[in-house]
Amino acid sequence: MSGMRMGAIALFAVINLVSAATGSAQEGVAAPEATAAVAPAAPGAGGLSFAAEAQKCGKCHEDEYAAFRDNLHFGVFAKTGVEKACAACHGDNGAEHAKLKTKESIVSFTKGSAQTPAQQAAQCLNCHKNEPKVAHWNSGPHNRADLSCASCHTNHKGRMHVKPSPEHCLDCHKDIAQLVKKRSHHPILEGKVGCKDCHNPHGSLSEKSWVETNVNLLCTKCHGDKRGPFMWQHQPVEENCLNCHNPHGSNHNRLLVEKVPNLCQECHQASGHVSTAYDSNNGFDGTGSMRNRFVGRACLNCHTKVHGSNAPSNFSGRGNSGKRFLR
Ligand code: HEC
Ligand code: HEC
Ligand code: HEC
Ligand code: HEC
Ligand code: HEC
Ligand code: HEC
Ligand code: HEC
Ligand code: HEC
Ligand code: HEC
Ligand code: HEC
Repeated sequence: MSGMRMGAIALFAVINLVSAATGSAQEGVAAPEATAAVAPAAPGAGGLSFAAEAQKCGKCHEDEYAAFRDNLHFGVFAKTGVEKACAACHGDNGAEHAKLKTKESIVSFTKGSAQTPAQQAAQCLNCHKNEPKVAHWNSGPHNRADLSCASCHTNHKGRMHVKPSPEHCLDCHKDIAQLVKKRSHHPILEGKVGCKDCHNPHGSLSEKSWVETNVNLLCTKCHGDKRGPFMWQHQPVEENCLNCHNPHGSNHNRLLVEKVPNLCQECHQASGHVSTAYDSNNGFDGTGSMRNRFVGRACLNCHTKVHGSNAPSNFSGRGNSGKRFLR
């Protein structure tokens, strides 16, 4: 088994060597930066040799050839003068491979590929590594988990699978799949918010590959009214929205991690009405009176501005209303 692995790596090195040796013939592809920034060359610059290259492989791989012609890459390669065609992704060992006719003699992206995921990704990154959205691939979670680009992007199956659906992500992320089906959830399966609106699947500089540098910037991107600054700030809100919310889904209203009043009482248990214990004498007991701090919206019956308030803090018989998030 390990012998096979070694063999595969050695072969890959050979493919790379061949690639380097023939580099001059394929300037555009051998120099990654040059390709990433390919300025459209004269129409048909890659022209004949491009089509001829593709057809060489197409003789034996009709389906993939046909699908490739229908693919976004075919269009851009042809327009920008990339001459390699199939070899741009499958490597430069084509001639040898046509003789050997084995899967191991060529770079492949499907199950049982002789190349490691990182080696497969390198084929794509030759061209894509400088794109801002892909730039943090190496440190991202999916590279670290040994996924390859082809875990999400296909090239021959219909059109390029450019934007994998949330369902595709949820195939692997079963725990999240459960959350987004809970009673309160971000409308992800409804198609109004995508995983990619919050996460960059290629990695980013933030903790869970968020598209913003921290949670609050992420949430207030869409929920601007919670951004502040408020005259009267609620500390846990300023600190992190996740103190009270689950980003994917929850059985409590409004994505809350716990129901009110319990949520508030996790932190507020000093004295007075705040620390009231809701037991058989204070709740739906039938003997005492029902407490509005417990029923319905509980604390929220009065503290309506838990994210912060801009109302003045006057004393008008209802306490420091703004300061206490009452209005
Ligand atoms: C003479 C016929 C022939 C030619 C020409 C040929 N191949 Fe193949 N190719 C095969 C055969 C046979 C296999 C092995 C299939 C297997 O083992 O399942 C194969 C396997 C592959 C695979 C691996 C398929 C997989 O299951 O992942 C890829 C990728 C591939 N070829 C790409 C190419 C490319 C790119 C070219 C042109 C540079 C090319 N082939 C030229 C016959 C050919
Ligand atoms: C020879 C260079 C080259 C290689 C190799 C290459 N690509 Fe591309 N790719 C391009 C170019 C150029 C575009 C068009 C970019 C654009 O329109 O902004 C593109 C477009 C894409 C897009 C769509 C981008 C969009 O804006 O819709 C995806 C996704 C993509 N490539 C993924 C891949 C994957 C995955 C691989 C490896 C299996 C790969 N590419 C290999 C050059 C390449
Ligand atoms: C976990 C799934 C996943 C993996 C793995 C993955 N991608 Fe993507 N990729 C996506 C999604 C989702 C989008 C759409 C992102 C968006 O629209 O913001 C995307 C978009 C892109 C784009 C278009 C970027 C743009 O600016 O619009 C390129 C290019 C691309 N991917 C290349 C790659 C390459 C190269 C790899 C491997 C190194 C790779 N991807 C691995 C899911 C993935
Ligand atoms: C932009 C990169 C790219 C180019 C260019 C490309 N392929 Fe592929 N190829 C892939 C990826 C990724 C897969 C993995 C499965 C898929 O996307 O369908 C693949 C899969 C294959 C397979 C195996 C199919 C399977 O499902 O087992 C063959 C054979 C193949 N390609 C041949 C070709 C031929 C022939 C050409 C040129 C006409 C070509 N490829 C051009 C990226 C590319
Ligand atoms: C082929 C399986 C697979 C697919 C598809 C996939 N992921 Fe992942 N993802 C993983 C693995 C494995 C990890 C490593 C951490 C783990 O085990 O959760 C990971 C990690 C992550 C992380 C980082 C978690 C952390 O704790 O840092 C995020 C965020 C993520 N994936 C989002 C996505 C999104 C968004 C998509 C769809 C565009 C997606 N994933 C598609 C397998 C997958
Ligand atoms: C509204 C923004 C948002 C959306 C949409 C979103 N996420 Fe997340 N995701 C987050 C935040 C914030 C965290 C960090 C949660 C934490 O640390 O408790 C996270 C964490 C994760 C993690 C790591 C979980 C862990 O236990 O560490 C994975 C995996 C993940 N998300 C996958 C997905 C997938 C897949 C989708 C689409 C179905 C998705 N996310 C949609 C914001 C979002
Ligand atoms: C890409 C935009 C976007 C981002 C980013 C985003 N949200 Fe949302 N959020 C929405 C949409 C859309 C809804 C549904 C609104 C509706 O149905 O009226 C929603 C609803 C909510 C709800 C109400 C849920 C309910 O059951 O009524 C809460 C709470 C919420 N988001 C919190 C957050 C938090 C916390 C974050 C950061 C982790 C976040 N959102 C990031 C778009 C976003
Ligand atoms: C101290 C706990 C707490 C924190 C921290 C918190 N929230 Fe909330 N959030 C709530 C409660 C409680 C509700 C329900 C309010 C109601 O029903 O009147 C809510 C409701 C929401 C809603 C849906 C109703 C509405 O008012 O639009 C959104 C969106 C929301 N929060 C976003 C955020 C964002 C964004 C952050 C971070 C900046 C955040 N929350 C931080 C407790 C919190
Ligand atoms: C994660 C902890 C945490 C949670 C959960 C939380 N709070 Fe707070 N809250 C604080 C902190 C810290 C302060 C600032 C205390 C201070 O300045 O003395 C504060 C301040 C307040 C104040 C103003 C107090 C004052 O003295 O001015 C009110 C009112 C309040 N919270 C109500 C709520 C309500 C209602 C909820 C539930 C929806 C809630 N809090 C949930 C931590 C929390
Ligand atoms: C019937 C309306 C009402 C309900 C219900 C209510 N509060 Fe209050 N709360 C007030 C008023 C009014 C003040 C201001 C008192 C003052 O400033 O002297 C206040 C003050 C506070 C304060 C700051 C002063 C202090 O006493 O520490 C906190 C914290 C607080 N409430 C938390 C809560 C929590 C947690 C709940 C739910 C368990 C809750 N409140 C339910 C009306 C209410």
